[in-house]
Amino acid sequence: MKRTKIASVGMYVPANIVTNNDLLRYMDTSDEWIQERTGIRERRFADRTRETTTTMGVEAAKIAIERAGITASDIDFIIFATLSPDYYFPGCGVLLQRAMKMNEIGALDVRNQCSGFVYALSVGDQFIRTGMYKNILVVGAEKHSFGLDFSTRGRNVSVIFGDGAGAVVLQPTDQENQGILSTHLHSDGESAEILAMYNPGTHANHWMEQELADFDEAEMGEMFFSHAMIDKAQVFPNMDGPLVFKKAVIKFPEVIIEALNKNGLQSSDLNLLIPHQANLRIAQFVQQKLKLRDEQVYNNIQNYGNTTAASIPIALCEAWELGKIKEGDLVCLAAFGSGFTWGSALLRW
Ligand SMILES: CC(C)(COP(=O)(O)OP(=O)(O)OC[C@H]1O[C@@H](n2cnc3c(N)ncnc32)[C@H](O)[C@@H]1OP(=O)(O)O)[C@@H](O)C(=O)NCCC(=O)NCCS
Repeated sequence: MKRTKIASVGMYVPANIVTNNDLLRYMDTSDEWIQERTGIRERRFADRTRETTTTMGVEAAKIAIERAGITASDIDFIIFATLSPDYYFPGCGVLLQRAMKMNEIGALDVRNQCSGFVYALSVGDQFIRTGMYKNILVVGAEKHSFGLDFSTRGRNVSVIFGDGAGAVVLQPTDQENQGILSTHLHSDGESAEILAMYNPGTHANHWMEQELADFDEAEMGEMFFSHAMIDKAQVFPNMDGPLVFKKAVIKFPEVIIEALNKNGLQSSDLNLLIPHQANLRIAQFVQQKLKLRDEQVYNNIQNYGNTTAASIPIALCEAWELGKIKEGDLVCLAAFGSGFTWGSALLRW
C-alpha cells in the first residue's frame, strides 16, 4: 500500500493585528496576565465583513496548491476542518469548492475543534493509502473573532483565540522513507460541556442538570435560537480553563508517545514536534515531559493566539518556510481540544 505525503503547505492570516493591550479597550485584562498564563502577545482578527472562514481557507489553499505544482482542477477531494463555519449548514467545504471553481469532487467537513486538522489529515491519509484519491486538499480555518464575548465576562476565552487558515495537499508517495507513518485519534465525551458553545443547538437542556439555554414561550420551534439566549448571553463559547489544562497536559504526551511507540521510535528521534497551539504553557509542559530540546518544538501562539483547527497547518507552514523542516525529518503533529478529542500524526517529511 502507498504512503501519504504532505506535498505542500500554505497559510493565510488576516492583516489586522490585535495586541493584548488593544483588548483593554473592551475588557478588564492586562498584557501581563495574558502573556503569563498563555504566552500570547497578539493575534489576528479577520475583517468583519470581507473575510470569512472559507475565504481565509481559500487563500491558504491557493498557496498550497501552487506549491504542489498543480492546479485547483487537479484536487480530487476536499476536507475542511473548522468550528466556525460560514453557515451552520452547508459546510465550508462546498463554499471552497465553489470559490476555487473546482470540479464536482467530494467535500467533507470535519467538526473536531482543536484536533480537527489531525482528524482531517488522518481521513485524507486513509483515502490516499487505498488509492481512492491522488490530490487531497486539507484545510483548517477559523474566524473566531465573529462571535466571542469581548466583555470582561468572556475574557478567559476571548483573549486566547485568533483567526487564520492553513492548508496542505496530500499525495501518494512510493518513497520508502517518506510520508505519514501513522495517525492516532481519540475522544472522551465525558466532559463535552467543559469547552463548548451550546447554543444555537438542539440539546433542549437534555444533557446537564444545569440549564444551558433559556427558551422563549412557543408551541413549536424557536428552541434552536431564542431571544432569551441572546438576552442572557448564552450564545458564547464556554470554557473551564483549569480543567482543560489538566487534561491536555496528560493527553498530549500520551498520544505523542503512542505514535512514537507504534513506529519503534523515541522522542529523541523527533526533529520537530508541532503541537496544536492551545497555550504556550501546555506546550512547554509537554516539551519538558518528553525531554525535548527547544529546537525540537515549534510554537507560534505568541503571534497568532489559538487558531483551533488552523493552528497546526499554520505552524507547519511557518516552520517549513523558516527551513525548520527538511526532507527526511521526523515530524509529529499533535492536538487536544474540545470534546474532548485528541490525536497525533507522525510523519517523515
Ligand atoms: C484559560 C487559562 C489561561 C486561565 O488561566 P488560569 O490560571 O487557569 O486562571 P483561572 O481561570 O483559574 O482564573 C484565575 C483568575 O484570573 C481571572 N481571569 C480570567 N481571564 C482573565 C483575563 N483575560 N485577564 C485577567 N484576568 C483573568 C479569573 O477571573 C480569575 O480571577 P479570580 O481568581 O478573581 O476569580 C488557563 O486555564 C488555560 O490556558 N487553560 C487551558 C485553556 C486552553 O488551552 N484552551 C484551548 C484548548 S484547545
